[in-house]
Amino acid sequence: MASTLQSIGEIGLLLAALTGTAQSQAVKAHDPGPRTGVSAGGPIDNLTPGELKLFNAGQATFAKVDTVSGDGLGPRMNFDSCGGCHAQPNVGGSGAKPNPQAQIIKRLGLKNTLPFFITENGPTREARFQKTSSGATDGGVHNLFTIVGAAGATGCQLTQPDFEANKRNMIFRIPTPVFGAGLIEQIRDTDILANLNKNASNAAKVVAAAAGQRPRHPILRQSRSTPITRKRTTTSP
Ligand code: HEC
Repeated sequence: MASTLQSIGEIGLLLAALTGTAQSQAVKAHDPGPRTGVSAGGPIDNLTPGELKLFNAGQATFAKVDTVSGDGLGPRMNFDSCGGCHAQPNVGGSGAKPNPQAQIIKRLGLKNTLPFFITENGPTREARFQKTSSGATDGGVHNLFTIVGAAGATGCQLTQPDFEANKRNMIFRIPTPVFGAGLIEQIRDTDILANLNKNASNAAKVVAAAAGQRPRHPILRQSRSTPITRKRTTTSP
């Protein structure tokens, strides 16, 4: 017993000594913030001319600002371009500072109220509700804005969700960078299925993917309902 206690004491001393050394030598971890000189967001090297064309088309679509009459923006929406939310450090990335969502009401002349959790210096956000008003499981994204007041939206009277009333019912999401998503997109469906057949231990995971688990992103969910059969899209550079 005595010897055990003694060794515990020794270990304690040793740890104290090690920690002391580590503290005096190590630099304290900190968030370096946005870094300069990054090159994310461009195409990878050695693409074929066709692939480069596809990349550029995807990037342009991603950056394009949609309008009500030209593109069918709305009637509910979180922003008017993919690239507005996926912006930092480049098109396709995460939310930028200042958050452009804070300016969209003014920019489009919307008759909307800025949700309390969208601020100039806060994160770019989507809001999911945990429960519906009747208490059932929700989980879906509830769009922040409507097109009421925008050019081309004459007659639209849609009201925004009551975010204040759902203060305790909300969970927020910030934009996931989509860098590299084009590479994942290139995996052929036949390879996914071949992998399923070859590797039984992976089967459950692959079955889930092959069965077309729907993407969580509300915008993609609308356009990509069955991933296994979908063709390459130009929306994610
Ligand atoms: C209002 C801001 C906003 C806009 C506009 C937006 N996104 Fe996103 N995006 C997000 C957020 C937030 C997430 C994270 C979603 C989550 O975790 O639930 C995300 C995630 C994603 C993902 C990751 C995969 C996934 O399903 O979670 C992809 C791919 C993506 N967005 C593509 C797009 C494309 C393509 C567009 C335009 C058609 C777009 N985004 C427009 C905010 C936005």
